[in-house]
Amino acid sequence: MSSVDRPGAQQWVPEGADLSQLRQAAPSCRGCELWEPATQVVFSAGAEDGRLALVGEQPGDQEDRRGIPFVGPAGRLLQKAVAEAGIDVSTTYVTNAVKHFRFTQKAPDSRRIHATPDVGHVTACRPWLAAELAQVDPEVVVCLGATAAKALLPKDFRVTKHRGQLLRLSTSRGEKTFMGTIHPSAVLRVPEADRDAAYAGLVADLRTAAAALS
Ligand code: URA
Ligand code: SF4
Repeated sequence: MSSVDRPGAQQWVPEGADLSQLRQAAPSCRGCELWEPATQVVFSAGAEDGRLALVGEQPGDQEDRRGIPFVGPAGRLLQKAVAEAGIDVSTTYVTNAVKHFRFTQKAPDSRRIHATPDVGHVTACRPWLAAELAQVDPEVVVCLGATAAKALLPKDFRVTKHRGQLLRLSTSRGEKTFMGTIHPSAVLRVPEADRDAAYAGLVADLRTAAAALS
């Protein structure tokens, strides 16, 4: 499927569906080509009435196998950072901008290597994200990394420049607070000598987001 015949998810998103109906419908999505090589759709996890939503990029290898977002190394780091920021993890809603794992693989049984989704995948998958966020109706939405930021934040947003800043943006449920920060995987990729500082930066941004909750 080329980007030309990538229809986008809209026609698979049932109108007026609640969160569990969205979750049930998502495996049928053929909005872009990513569904085919992936094991399964990875929809979301966490509190259906979460006041804080955490939006990642796409499922990774482990998430793809288990069908749950943020259960691999990045997820463990995120959970730790969220707790350290004084946020009760069980009150957060966790999802991804893109719901199928994009990867490259040299041979059928070789390791699957993460591939960053294109803006075309983000656009194709956005109807799911919009529908789920409209249902959950969080007060604050945190975009983890550039892909999530592309899905939800203004075009000129740059993680390096604007991370940690609170933005008020209008949504289908009225004005909401948004923030972009680094992706937990980015912390894991930082050379060891600088990793603690990168992690502390993520925690500080999450603290800012938590403070914006009423
Ligand atoms: N990275 C993400 O962005 N999301 C996941 O679910 C796992 C890793
Ligand atoms: Fe549909 Fe999103 Fe999966 Fe593409 S990545 S098939 S748009 S759910």
